[in-house]
Amino acid sequence: MPAPRHRARSRRPLWIIAMILLVCTMLIVLYVYPPQRYSACYLMSSHVCSPLMEWLPPVRTRVYSDDELAARVVIRDILSAPAVESKNPKIAFMFLTAGSLPFEKLWEKFFQGHEGRFSIYVHASTEKPLHVSPLFIGTDIHSEKVSWGKISMVEAEKRLLVNALQDTDNQHFVLLSDSCVPLHNFDYVYNYLTGTNISFIDCFEDPGPHGTGRYSENMLPEIEKEDFRKGAQWFSIKRQHALLILADGVYYTKFKLYCRPGMEGRNCYSDEHYLPTLFHMVDPGGIANWSVTHVDWSEGKWHPKAYRTRDVTFELLKNIASIDESIHVTSDLKKVVQKRPCLWNGMKRPCYLFARKFYPEALDNLMQLYSNSI
Ligand SMILES: *[C@@H]1O[C@H](CO)[C@@H](O)[C@H](O)[C@H]1NC(C)=O
Ligand SMILES: *[C@@H]1O[C@H](CO)[C@@H](O)[C@H](O)[C@H]1NC(C)=O
Repeated sequence: MPAPRHRARSRRPLWIIAMILLVCTMLIVLYVYPPQRYSACYLMSSHVCSPLMEWLPPVRTRVYSDDELAARVVIRDILSAPAVESKNPKIAFMFLTAGSLPFEKLWEKFFQGHEGRFSIYVHASTEKPLHVSPLFIGTDIHSEKVSWGKISMVEAEKRLLVNALQDTDNQHFVLLSDSCVPLHNFDYVYNYLTGTNISFIDCFEDPGPHGTGRYSENMLPEIEKEDFRKGAQWFSIKRQHALLILADGVYYTKFKLYCRPGMEGRNCYSDEHYLPTLFHMVDPGGIANWSVTHVDWSEGKWHPKAYRTRDVTFELLKNIASIDESIHVTSDLKKVVQKRPCLWNGMKRPCYLFARKFYPEALDNLMQLYSNSI
């Protein structure tokens, strides 16, 4: 008779040990996969979450306003619609400049012989440009004044996109400045941009004062601090993404109102944060996270390095053209260097198609090098 009772008593510690093991296993899983932000899962509180929960259907963690809901559904459909095919795909080269373009003759050399595969748009914010190349005549679009670092910069980018989207053959949209020059020949650039599905938008997380330090809580609830990103403004995007930018009013308005110089005693520059943040939120896998336009910030000054005639050598251009890793440095005291290979359709490739900034005086030198080497 006492035997069964005895057995029951000895089973209880086993059961407790099993429970302890289970709890330990869960703790180890949580330690190995620290719960970051799985917006698709929830368990009492939204941060108690593990990758095991990812199969759960997406749960809306906050209530969207009518406008945000509308923007989200339009953006989703733009992203899921098949790209509009063109029999004659072209690349739109969009120049954002103050006045005349010092490197028109160089660009003319770049474009020559490829008529029908490109279009040119010029937004000149201060004075009407004098064009020295026939390819650029008639390419000026209606322009407005642009103030450095202000939302008017993004407005000008959108104005260029609206104009370039009118031509349904334009499949890829490259934003360039008056100090940009090409690093490769036209065919290379054309195949690089049209041969992949992704857009080249620079995007990285900078926890320092020149990154997330510029975030304002007024951007809530639409834009959370952990979604705030940084990147150079010189993008190169596919048609779908150009449409997406025009479809967004909600997130854009947040930047217009709360990311500007002097905001809450800090400076925020929309042209460095709006597109990286927007695409990080709505299509992170659709962007390369680097810009195809090279710029040298290594001197650590307020402005990037600008090349004079004496700096412009075959070696300089060759070195820039052969870089195949993108580098981002955080602006906090740690100055963390984030290095990533530039992957084009999964293959390691040179990152850059264009470079800046060049002084106008470098034109002759560049023309000669371009003819000889490219
Ligand atoms: C990417 O482009 C290729 C054609 O180059 C197409 O077949 C493929 O479906 C595209 N993929 C996506 C995800 O859009
Ligand atoms: C860009 O970075 C995001 C993370 O922010 C990542 O999800 C995405 O896969 C990256 N894009 C590419 C092409 O690797």
